[in-house]
Amino acid sequence: MTVTGRGIDRARVAEIGQREEAEYRRRTPKSAALFERAREALPLGVASSFQAYDPYPLFMTDARGSRIWDADGNEYIDFDMAFGVLAAGHSHPILAEALQRRVANGTCYTFPVEDGVALAEEIKARFDADLVRFSNSGTEATMDAIRVARGYTGREKIVKFEGGYHGHHDDVLVSIQPPRDAMGPDDQPATVPASAGIPRSRVAETVVAPFNEPEVLAAILEAHRGEIAAIIVEPVQFNIGVVPPKPGFLERLRELADAHGIVLIFDEVKTGVVLAWGGAFEHFGVKPDLFCLAKSIGGGIPIGAFGGRREVMRVIETLEGSQQFAAMGGALGTGIDRTTIPGGATRVAHLGTFNGNPLSMTAGLVTLTQILTRDVYPGLNAMAERLTSGCQGVIDEHGLPGYAINVGPKGCVMYTPGRVTNYRDFIGLDSELWSASFYYLANRGILLPPGPDDQWTLSVQHTEDEIDRHVEVFRAFAEELAA
Ligand SMILES: Cc1ncc(COP(=O)(O)O)c(C=O)c1O
Repeated sequence: MTVTGRGIDRARVAEIGQREEAEYRRRTPKSAALFERAREALPLGVASSFQAYDPYPLFMTDARGSRIWDADGNEYIDFDMAFGVLAAGHSHPILAEALQRRVANGTCYTFPVEDGVALAEEIKARFDADLVRFSNSGTEATMDAIRVARGYTGREKIVKFEGGYHGHHDDVLVSIQPPRDAMGPDDQPATVPASAGIPRSRVAETVVAPFNEPEVLAAILEAHRGEIAAIIVEPVQFNIGVVPPKPGFLERLRELADAHGIVLIFDEVKTGVVLAWGGAFEHFGVKPDLFCLAKSIGGGIPIGAFGGRREVMRVIETLEGSQQFAAMGGALGTGIDRTTIPGGATRVAHLGTFNGNPLSMTAGLVTLTQILTRDVYPGLNAMAERLTSGCQGVIDEHGLPGYAINVGPKGCVMYTPGRVTNYRDFIGLDSELWSASFYYLANRGILLPPGPDDQWTLSVQHTEDEIDRHVEVFRAFAEELAA
């Protein structure tokens, strides 16, 4: 028997992985055929490269509540929930009814609607914010928030953390999961583009820091004193499994941002209205200057939002009152000395044809005020604890290398030798074991996200029986591994 130092039989992992992948292919011929067709029309056969995985993605046809069906009619309990979009579950009946009415009455006006005002008010209340703006995705929300921070401070560089994902615009599509040989030293991570096509000039504006290492960050900020407009952070790193902040880390970020006059941006695209009613802000009790939202706030309809302190958000109206304005000596003549700002702009542009469209606004308003209400969070957290402790019990029983972890209703099994505190620990993840578990569970109706960097998300439509079924299938997987 080939046993690793971590006590599992590698040959057994490979055998189960191959057998389950073959079974996946056997169960899903229509997805395979659709994929062959798709490859002739779409690069990688998908609309977003995140959707591509080996041997081919499942093509889905229907979803309701916590269930989803593929093109071959296989039913799954959905724990992926669209990369965490669906804390409300699929097509929540209240939302479905509201959207039917909305669709019958126009879905895009490019004139403002009352639902947009009410949704902004709801977000203000949850995140103790002064002003909010809408976009259509998380990518747009982080892109816009960064521009606002740059406009407010008059500085150009930003800091992001290695392993953090903030969408696919050039400023932040760096050091997502950089290769070991390119990532640089622990205390000075290199800025590594995660895509071809990103200009060197953009990369130069993004400084990368290690997550959960506040004193390394302090040194980096010192080295760039007066240059950094924003620190953008996922309060929990949810794009390398589940990596919570160490106690005190977010508080220290707040202090450092204040000390350096930097705008602190919480990217709450995954955490907002999921970890708690008021997102990571409420869960951890640390308030950023700006926050970004998307995913779950729309109940499954495309939407994004960002907001925060009036003084910062107000640069969308005027630069007066901003740090940039103060640095220019305040009011010069009748207002801002336009010649000192590139292009003579006097405010930050925030634009978008679909921003605040009635479909998204109604979806967001109904989701937040009628579905993800304050009272649902204890139940979501209790189910998450049940799933995590169930999986951890199985891991302990069978000596699997790894651990189960959740923060709020989002969690996963991390197949790593030790606890992950930042991206460099995550590199040790056993991807072969993860892959075997993915196919094993999918073939038995438990659908996880198709990559170890993502995690399960529970919705208000999942049940305890479904959690127990998940644990039961995971136990069967562990037993087979140990057999
Ligand atoms: C933390 C975080 N920020 C931003 C984004 C980008 O959001 P979108 O895919 O809606 O552009 C994501 C997407 O997964 C995310 O996880």
